[in-house]
Amino acid sequence: MNTLARQNALHQAAQKRIEASHVLDGDAKRLVRYYREWAGSYEFDLEREDYRGPLIVAELAGAVQAAYMGRDRAAMATLDAGCGTGLVGIELDHLGFRLIDGFDLCETMAEMARQTGTYRNVEGDVDLNRPLSDYSTACYDMTVCSGVFTLGHVRPHGLRELARVTRSKGFVVISTERSYLEATSFEHEVLCLHQAGVLTPVQYLSNGRYIGNEDAHYWRSESIRGLAA
Ligand SMILES: C[S@@+](CC[C@H](N)C(=O)[O-])C[C@H]1O[C@@H](n2cnc3c(N)ncnc32)[C@H](O)[C@@H]1O
Repeated sequence: MNTLARQNALHQAAQKRIEASHVLDGDAKRLVRYYREWAGSYEFDLEREDYRGPLIVAELAGAVQAAYMGRDRAAMATLDAGCGTGLVGIELDHLGFRLIDGFDLCETMAEMARQTGTYRNVEGDVDLNRPLSDYSTACYDMTVCSGVFTLGHVRPHGLRELARVTRSKGFVVISTERSYLEATSFEHEVLCLHQAGVLTPVQYLSNGRYIGNEDAHYWRSESIRGLAA
C-alpha cells in the first residue's frame, strides 16, 4: 500500500470509529465498552481528523475569565465534564488554568486524563445522563465540556447538572455538534433553563470548526443560580 492509500485507509477507519460512537444511544454500558476499546487510539484518530473542540472551548473559557471574572484563572475551580483523555485540560493548562477537575463515564479514558498531570482530580464512572450526586451545588467557577453533547452520548437534560454544579455568576462553556443540535431538544433545554432563571446564554459561536467536515456551535452561558440537587 502506498503512502496516500495508507493515509486514506487511516482516515476512513478514524471516521468509522467516530461515526460508530454516535449510535450508542446514551447507554452507559455501551459507551464505557466502546471508549474502553477506543482509548488507545482515540487521540490519534481525532488528531488525524483535525479535532478543534478542546482548543476552542479552552480559549472561550480563557476569554470569559479575562473579560468577566475577577479571580485569577490559576485559582479558579474549573470542571472538565466528560474529560476523555484530557485534551481540554491540556489546553486549559496552556492558558494558565490550574485547578482543573475532570470526570468521565469511562474509567480508562479518565485514567489517561490523570496521566496527563494537568488535573487536580479526575473521577471515572461518572454519568452525566444522571444526577452528579457526588458533586455539590455551585462548587465550580467554570464548567467546560467538549465533544460530550454529541449524538449517542449525553442528552440535553445533562446541561441542568452542569448548571447546578457551577456557582452563581460562573460560566458554562460547551460545544454541541451541528448534527446534535439538529437532532435533539438542546436549544429548547437552554431556553427552559434561561426562562427558569438558571442560565443566561451570553455568547454563541455558530458553525465553528469542530472536526473534519462537521461544524459545532459553541455556547457560553452565565450561571444565574445553582439548581437545587
Ligand atoms: C468525544 S469524547 C470527548 C472527550 C474530551 N472532552 C475531548 O474533547 O477529547 C466523549 C467523552 O465523553 C464520555 N462520555 C460519554 N457519555 C458520557 C456520559 N453520559 N457521562 C460522562 N461522560 C460521558 C466518553 O467516555 C468520552 O470520554
